[in-house]
Order: sequence, then C-alpha cells, then structure tokens
Amino acid sequence: MVNPLNKVKRVLPSDTGGKDLGIFLPIANGGWILSDKAPEIDGSYAYNKKAAMLADQHGLDFIMAMAKWRGFGGPREHWQHSVDSQILIAALAEATENVQVWATVHTLLQNPAVTAKMISTIDQISNGRAGLNVVTGSYKGEFEQMGAWRADVNHDQRYDLATEWVDIIKRLWSEPSVTYDGKYFQMDDCQSDHKPVADPHPFLVCAGTSKKGMQFTVEQMDAIFLSGGDENELKENSNMAKQMARDAGRTIKTYTMLNLVIGDTDEEAQKTAEYYASGFDEEALHGMMRAYGFLDSEIGKENDFTRKARSSFMSAHRVGSPDSLADQCISLIDNCDLDGLMLIFPDYHAGIPVFADKIMPKIKSAFPSKSVVAENA
Ligand SMILES: Cc1cc2nc3c(=O)[nH]c(=O)nc-3n(C[C@H](O)[C@H](O)[C@H](O)COP(=O)(O)O)c2cc1C
Repeated sequence: MVNPLNKVKRVLPSDTGGKDLGIFLPIANGGWILSDKAPEIDGSYAYNKKAAMLADQHGLDFIMAMAKWRGFGGPREHWQHSVDSQILIAALAEATENVQVWATVHTLLQNPAVTAKMISTIDQISNGRAGLNVVTGSYKGEFEQMGAWRADVNHDQRYDLATEWVDIIKRLWSEPSVTYDGKYFQMDDCQSDHKPVADPHPFLVCAGTSKKGMQFTVEQMDAIFLSGGDENELKENSNMAKQMARDAGRTIKTYTMLNLVIGDTDEEAQKTAEYYASGFDEEALHGMMRAYGFLDSEIGKENDFTRKARSSFMSAHRVGSPDSLADQCISLIDNCDLDGLMLIFPDYHAGIPVFADKIMPKIKSAFPSKSVVAENA
C-alpha cells in the first residue's frame, strides 16, 4: 500500500472573515472588451503566464481560467484564439507558489473520472491549490461543432447531469472505489488515486445564474459567481444565494467579476473607457449574443442588452483613479455582502501591479481576515 500524500488545509481569506481577490485570466484573445481600441490581448500561454506570475508575486488569492471552444467573430476574431483551461492551469500551478489555481471543465465534454484525476494531479503539482469551475455549457454552437451537443438533455437536466458528475468526483476524491448507477453516469468499481492534497478537497465553484443553476451551485459548490443588471440586483442575488445555501444546511461564498479601468485620475480613466467604447465591435457582439442564446431574429435589433454592450465591456466594470476604485470596490463588496471579486483588466500586465500596490491594500484593510487581525493584535 502506497502512503497517502500529506494533506494541505485549504484556506482562503474569506474563511477567516477577509475577502478573496482573484484574476480572471484572459485565456482567449481580446479579453473582456469588445473593441478594436482596447489593448491587444492575444490569449497566449506567454501572456497568461506573465499575468499569473504577477498575480502570485503580488499576493492575489486566486487565478481562474475559463474554458472556451469557439470565438465570436468580428474584425479582431474575438475569443477565436484560446488555450486549454486545464493544461494552462497545470502549467501555471508549476509557475506559481501561493495563488490558488482554478481550471474550468464542461460537464458535457469530460468524463468525471478523467476530471477527478486531472484536477487531483493539478492539486499535487500546486501542493493543494487546485480548484475547479464547473460549467454545464450553454452555447450550443460550441458543442455542435464537435458533435457533443446533447439535444436530449435540456438546460435544467444539464444541471441534474452535473449533480451526478460532481457527486462522482467528490466520491472518487475520498473513497477507494466508486460504483454508481445514475441516470447519466455509471461507474463500476471505479478507482482514482492519488487522492487530492487539498483538505477537504480542491475548491469547487460554478456560475449557475438560472434558478436551477443557483440551486445546483449552493448545494454542491464552495462558491458561486454572480452578476446583476445593477448593484441592487447583484445584492439581491448574493443574499438569495446565501439564503438558499442556509436552507440547504450549507454556506456559500459569493463572488462577482469586475473589469477595472485604472487611470491616474478619474477623468483620465473615464477618457480611456470612452476611447474603448469608440472602437466597439458590433460583429463580435452578434457572435456573443448567439453564444448567450439569443435567436437569429433578435440579432441586429436594439434592446437593453445591446445598448449596455455598446460600452464595449462584456462584464460589470468600474472606472477611476486607484483611490476611487478602492472605494468603489469596498462599497460594492460591502453593499452586496460579497466574499470576493474576480478581476479583469484591459491590460493585465499593466493593471495587476497597480491594483496590487494601490487598490488591494485598501480593500484588504477594510475587510481584514481574522488571522491578520490576530497577527497584528
Ligand atoms: C465568472 C463566470 C465564469 C464562467 N465561465 C464559463 C466558462 O469557462 N465556459 C462556459 O462555457 N461558460 C462559462 N460561464 C457561464 C456559466 O457557467 C453559466 O452557464 C451562465 O452563467 C448561465 O447560467 P445557467 O447555466 O444557470 O443558465 C461563466 C460565467 C461566469 C459568470
């Protein structure tokens, strides 16, 4: 019998009252701005490695890589050029020391036993820093192109499938053998060793936004990524997720993603954001709308979604000087009772050091984790 690996207790600042600050890695070209005036991000390994190492060296808490299989088109071929999430994160596990490293896997594409072993391998490479973003997959085109779309499994059933998938992974991570007779998966004396190093297991996160997706996430995951049309809606979603978790006898961390446009002054940052908007990529927007499930008949028509998209930002964003952004982040976290932020930058290599030097310390001192309080007492 081979000796089990030494376990490493998985601890994030939010476990002790602090907030988790991480980076959404730009694994696909163009990042999260639909504009030909935005800084060039090529989605390459080299670009992501430098961003990951900066995040690690500057003491951020996590990096996460999405999984993407098809781009949106447009003059800059937005998101057409990307690297694989799990392989990237495995390499970055070796390239970094302290930051949590989270990969994304589509439940429709990868057998749970394969995922269990791949994530526990990343966990071993990183000495207990691995995490898994579970994605059920909603962009039909991404899966149809490879013959992997399941027409027999609708949106909510994809979360039933994901529940079995995660259940099997958790059991493979903790039990010597798994025999499982589910609706979607069958395992027969399935074995997966080494077990992960992280105690209790690699971090699990999902961005289930629908009612069914949220229910799955609060019942199965350690954290949920939330968004909202505005800050009030985000607050409602965060409160709702926490209540749903309490009803299920659990707790859930709530995160949101935020693109930060940093300038020396508020005015300068505002000018930069307007400059990006002036290069808005309408064709890429159409590709993105198809990916989000808009019908062809809706594409090209004006609605709230397209009006908002003309800012060229694909996610919520904040604009300002470092001081003003620190205040905005603190107020957002406080108001929405969030456990952390996953940050996006128009230019990661320039943005991460400024964030780490001038914004992060203010956020961390506004929400100290208990271990830091104890050290300072
Ligand atoms: C932070 C974040 C990360 C996501 N990562 C991915 C991803 O890597 N690949 C993907 O296909 N979808 C991704 N999604 C989409 C979600 O997994 C989910 O499908 C979407 O939020 C819709 O929710 P629903 O499935 O409950 O309808 C992400 C969403 C968010 C907010």
